[in-house]
Amino acid sequence: MHADAAAPDTLATVSSIFKDGLLAGQLILVSGGGSGIGRQTAIELTGLGADVVICGREIEPLRETADLCMSHGAEGSCSAMVCDIRDAEQVDALIDATLETHGKIDTLVNNAGGQFLAPAEQITEKGFDTVIKLNVHGTWLMSQAVALKWMIENGGGKIINVTLSPHNGMPGMVHSGAARAAVENMTKTLSIEWARFGIKLNALAIGQIATETLLTKYPQVVVDNLSHSIPAGRLGKPEEVAWQVAYLASEAGDFYSGSVLTMDGSRDNWLGPWPPTQLIDDAGKPVSEDRK
Ligand SMILES: NC(=O)c1ccc[n+]([C@@H]2O[C@H](COP(=O)([O-])OP(=O)(O)OC[C@H]3O[C@@H](n4cnc5c(N)ncnc54)[C@H](OP(=O)(O)O)[C@@H]3O)[C@@H](O)[C@H]2O)c1
Repeated sequence: MHADAAAPDTLATVSSIFKDGLLAGQLILVSGGGSGIGRQTAIELTGLGADVVICGREIEPLRETADLCMSHGAEGSCSAMVCDIRDAEQVDALIDATLETHGKIDTLVNNAGGQFLAPAEQITEKGFDTVIKLNVHGTWLMSQAVALKWMIENGGGKIINVTLSPHNGMPGMVHSGAARAAVENMTKTLSIEWARFGIKLNALAIGQIATETLLTKYPQVVVDNLSHSIPAGRLGKPEEVAWQVAYLASEAGDFYSGSVLTMDGSRDNWLGPWPPTQLIDDAGKPVSEDRK
């Protein structure tokens, strides 16, 4: 029943879901585009005709993504720029350069983020601050800069924030759980405040997705057991997130704002497979009452 967690990044080719040219003419900025979900998103969006600017702290992985976009049949373009999203000056420089080259920003995807697995009592002040600064502060700096430098004066745009599921507690990742809750509230608050400028913000609360980071960074025992904590019985795929981003960036996403779209194989609702192995009958079905 349970798929294992061994699948690497799949890097699917030109969209198998959406029509050609769906995002032609759009400029989409994706943070954290040098790996995992950000890389797959860049491939999907350029395959649909968008011009995509990706950023991260290292140029090499970003260049690799740009090359992969081309070799996976990009209709649009992918360009790379180094930017640490925690640094306001670097964020300003990224937005200025993007506007200078492309003349607009239709959608910002705040995908860059991360955390480390640790019991709460062992997390130092520095460790906590690092995770909050990256996920909350970085998302805020990027969002406000895009709004101030382009969207407010130019009829709006979209901001898609990648956050986390489950929402009911993130044991082992208290910093990231707190950070993503903050980003989801920021998403909702700004969707109200900036509605008058035509800016739409949504959060994609994703469960465990089989990226290289997830499959290689965490202890093997955690990785091996992840699918057993997901009712759907499998990890998500990076392209499933990329498809959601493409959908929201397209006209189909135009009336979404202030939403948190949870995509997690139902992990938010039940932390385990269904039926639980302890609660099945001899035929493998969930136990039930004998009704007379
Ligand atoms: N995979 C999952 O199961 C999962 C589940 C829920 C949420 N998420 C979230 O989804 C997003 C993508 O995850 P992923 O699995 O694709 O992880 P990933 O491969 O580690 O991607 C994170 C990206 O963010 C970039 N980044 C990190 N710090 C940065 C900074 N200060 N400034 C700019 N870029 C920075 C990294 O590039 P550099 O290191 O080169 O800067 C990297 O390319 C993350 O926010 C992650 O927390 C993932």
